[in-house]
Amino acid sequence: MTKKTTYNFLIITILITFFAVFNGFIYTSNENENPVKLTEQAMHGQRLWQENNCWSCHQTYGLGGYLGPDLTNIYSAENKGPSYIKAFLNSGVKAMPKFNFSEEEKNALVTYLKFIDSTGYYPNYKAKFKSNGWVELEYKNEK
Ligand code: HEC
Repeated sequence: MTKKTTYNFLIITILITFFAVFNGFIYTSNENENPVKLTEQAMHGQRLWQENNCWSCHQTYGLGGYLGPDLTNIYSAENKGPSYIKAFLNSGVKAMPKFNFSEEEKNALVTYLKFIDSTGYYPNYKAKFKSNGWVELEYKNEK
């Protein structure tokens, strides 16, 4: 090997090693991991939410259909909450169908919406703009 090839080989080896170590670090670090587990009841509610197409008219975190309002923080909204949510499910309104849910199913949906509410704010007006250009959002479920 010429001197130049040896030199290139060395550089490549260093780069590959750096790449391997860096990837090992990235893929094994559990920083930023904040697993939130849904309870059985909340998962039941999530299933009902999907099966009954609530999402086709409603949004959570701004995502979903736009016929009805965003329900991210409906659970903790002033003058709303569990019985308010149930009232809508019981009777429907002009553009929202009436659902014949059992009490258990209504509770599951309320628990699901309570869970969503516990994760944060939408729209998030509590954002701080940092001097380095990043935006810091306020979450509800931070450790
Ligand atoms: C066909 C569209 C449609 C579907 C499907 C639908 N909704 Fe609605 N919903 C609406 C509309 C429109 C409103 C607003 C009614 C109003 O305020 O006049 C509404 C209002 C609500 C409200 C009250 C919101 C507020 O801030 O006052 C809740 C809670 C709600 N819906 C829950 C649900 C759930 C849970 C489901 C699924 C089981 C569902 N909706 C399915 C259209 C829909």
